[in-house]
Amino acid sequence: MQMAVTNILFAASEAYPLVKTGGLGDVAGSLCRALRNLNKDLRLVLPAYPMAMEVVRHKKRLVSFVQDEESVTIWQALLPGTRVTVLLVACDKYFDREGNPYQDDQGEDWPDNAERFGLFCRVIEGIAIDHYGLGWRADVVHCNDWQTGLVPMLLAEQRQRPATVFTIHNLGYQGLFPFTAFQNLKLPAIYWHHERLEYHKQLSFIKGGLVYADRINTVSPTYAQEIQTPKFGCGLEGLLMHRQSRLSGILNGIDTDVWNPGTDKLISHRYNSKTLNRKLNNKLDLQRQLRLPEDPEIPLLGKVGRLVKQKGVDLVIKALPELLKQPMQLVVLGTGDTRFADSLRKLAKQWPEKLAVYIGYSEALAHRIEAGADMFLMPSRYEPCGLNQMYSQRYGTLPIVSAVGGLADTVTDPSMIKDKNEIADGFVIANYSVKGIIEAVNRAIERYHDKPSWRQMQRAAMHKDMTWKDRAHEYLALYEQALKDSRSSADYE
Ligand code: ADP
Ligand code: GLC
Repeated sequence: MQMAVTNILFAASEAYPLVKTGGLGDVAGSLCRALRNLNKDLRLVLPAYPMAMEVVRHKKRLVSFVQDEESVTIWQALLPGTRVTVLLVACDKYFDREGNPYQDDQGEDWPDNAERFGLFCRVIEGIAIDHYGLGWRADVVHCNDWQTGLVPMLLAEQRQRPATVFTIHNLGYQGLFPFTAFQNLKLPAIYWHHERLEYHKQLSFIKGGLVYADRINTVSPTYAQEIQTPKFGCGLEGLLMHRQSRLSGILNGIDTDVWNPGTDKLISHRYNSKTLNRKLNNKLDLQRQLRLPEDPEIPLLGKVGRLVKQKGVDLVIKALPELLKQPMQLVVLGTGDTRFADSLRKLAKQWPEKLAVYIGYSEALAHRIEAGADMFLMPSRYEPCGLNQMYSQRYGTLPIVSAVGGLADTVTDPSMIKDKNEIADGFVIANYSVKGIIEAVNRAIERYHDKPSWRQMQRAAMHKDMTWKDRAHEYLALYEQALKDSRSSADYE
């Protein structure tokens, strides 16, 4: 049978520029745009958070109905700046809340997250099989992370069903809830089993994807291997090894329009690989804005990201007293664990001339750091893909990274160069420890003072192809594969 995927339902809990808390938001927004540009009939489905409803364009109400005793309306709109159709699932009880999609303003998870995303999953299932009479059925449903994890399981119950793909963006977040949540969701009792949704006496949303999706993938080839080991598998390595033949890795791309130093409206001095001298003005602006001494020569490191153990913030905090003894500056932007934020603030008080810390979320400052810093520090314990190291490369800001996941797949250290035509585009920490971080930063600083070699590395980093173009084709091939697999496992054939 000739099969071709045309109708794609892309399900996520965030998408830039409607709502973003991290890399998933960036990927959902930019991958959907790339797939739409390949002329696929793609619909992105998201919860109708108030901020998303404000930002979308050409909003129209499609249908209202009652799902699991809740009133739901589906709105259709366009993702700003794209031709991507967005379906927004409005349910006031669950999604009409200000702030973060997952947490309250104290940083605590919303207590009804299982019910919120459980309902979201049911509605995605309904849209996929045209249960609400919208006149459109999905060939493939592409689910992302635990918030959409129940969808492959729910669809597996349907006889005539679309194929399902489940992408792991971060195995550290599994959507685990007590048994009462399983009961509240009225899921059939047979699913309370360790080979299904149960995980150590808890309900696991992510297992709905990992057990039932026709294809599983993650966001870099190295992470796809790592998660099959106890060190990185977060307890799910056995299941992932069992489904090895259905598991692969596709490296994330980046939105090279949003992250383009030549056109970026959030930075004061635009530049490209031929006008790299202008980058210096962004550095001076950043120093001024963050009240660091303005010094064109001093190596300036940037760090943007969640302040959590995953990102190695604890090790950076331990390395700082030693690192800051030498001439260098560091700018940190992030939100997350208050103990890390407090330690960083304390260190910034001790070293006001060398360390500037901004605790908060600021898209504009993130761009200014990428443009103004000389180097970008990203010593993650694990990193499914990581986007900031790629944004840094595009801005000629050389990343200093650990050798894990997508960081290992995107950064080449000078020591790895075998061929004289190859040029390194960053620095890789050889031994993952406080000492290892200090050693790598020192190596980068030494190279920074060798101007011609630094320039060469900056240009190599800026010239890399990090677009979605080829990677979107890889997703299409994955969808085709999922469709084949779904047909071969279906009992109606
Ligand atoms: P993760 O998704 O694990 O947090 P990524 O590197 O994939 O890590 O993506 C993080 C994204 O979130 C980047 O676009 C980064 O710039 C952004 N980001 C993270 N923290 C902040 C912050 N405090 N302010 C602005 N942007 C942030
Ligand atoms: C997750 C990962 C990050 C990845 C992002 C987008 O948040 O932590 O490494 O880049 O998803 O896939």
